[in-house]
Amino acid sequence: MKTISFPESELQSSNVVLGLMRIATLPDDDIRTLYAAARDAGINTFDHADIYGPERHACEKRFGEAVKLSAADRASIVIQSKVGIRQGFFDFSKEHILRTVDESLAALRTDYLDVLLLHRPDTLVEPEEVAAAFDELHTAGKVVNFGVSNHTPGQIELLKTAVNRPLVANQVQLSITHCPMIASGIAANMGGLDQSVDRDNGLLDYSRLHGMTLQAWSPFQKGFFDGVFIGDLDNYAELNSVLDELAAKYEVTPTGIAVAWITRHPAHMQVVLGTTNPGRVAESAAGSDIPLTREEWYRLFRAAGHVVP
Ligand SMILES: NC(=O)c1ccc[n+]([C@@H]2O[C@H](COP(=O)([O-])OP(=O)(O)OC[C@H]3O[C@@H](n4cnc5c(N)ncnc54)[C@H](OP(=O)(O)O)[C@@H]3O)[C@@H](O)[C@H]2O)c1
Repeated sequence: MKTISFPESELQSSNVVLGLMRIATLPDDDIRTLYAAARDAGINTFDHADIYGPERHACEKRFGEAVKLSAADRASIVIQSKVGIRQGFFDFSKEHILRTVDESLAALRTDYLDVLLLHRPDTLVEPEEVAAAFDELHTAGKVVNFGVSNHTPGQIELLKTAVNRPLVANQVQLSITHCPMIASGIAANMGGLDQSVDRDNGLLDYSRLHGMTLQAWSPFQKGFFDGVFIGDLDNYAELNSVLDELAAKYEVTPTGIAVAWITRHPAHMQVVLGTTNPGRVAESAAGSDIPLTREEWYRLFRAAGHVVP
């Protein structure tokens, strides 16, 4: 398992991460089995958010109740959560950040978060308030590292006018079929080609230039929560054919190759899985460090319908 380092942590974070957004209705035993499958596969990083589940902190609570981490287990894993999305609006106020982190810690039954991300950009953000909240949380030992999610380079730079703590990660939607962040740069400056439109103000290059880890959410979804491309022969026959061929070559499953398409990128990305299926967790973890060749990587990209001009 390849790992990523965060500046304030001694612990290395696995580049395949288990997301817990879909566990609200799972029984305790299934959550424990899912967690164990991840640990067995070398995954040590777990992604949460206050809003996952039918009510606030529901999935965090289910995880805390079911897994009941021992002190030694807690010290060996990276727990990440997010704050900032509320019912119909976004809220990066100091008061909301502080209160939400306390609620997350209680729900997860832990004393600290390894990473806290600001979930979606709040246009009413006051960077000084975020900075004050982050400083207070860090000083109190409640949060070790901080980052963002779904942010553009300009929004990150705005936060940095006041936030002195390093912003270590940006979690964004990314799969072979949904990758404007990568595809626009490949087709830079092509008039008349939609793929050429820069939808995030150069986020990929910015992240590499500033050493910010990109975390890919929905790595198997075709688009925005509209089903997986793996096995979708109606819409992605060519992509599935290439996935199958490379899966055979590297002795993994197509799921492993879909993960490898992201982890192979030299930007040192992490892949945040949403599966609740222990078998798929293991298949995904197998994609952590598959050395896809350049030709294979671009072949998958083209097979997903993108243009290499
Ligand atoms: N920062 C953000 O704004 C943001 C937004 C969304 C999500 N996230 C994070 O990212 C994580 C992953 O997101 P996601 O759940 O949308 O990603 P995903 O892993 O692409 O999708 C997971 C869903 O696809 C199904 N699935 C996966 N592989 C499949 C296959 N081969 N065949 C059939 N079904 C398959 C899973 O079903 P099974 O359970 O049956 O495998 C599950 O319902 C979340 O848990 C959360 O932690 C972050």
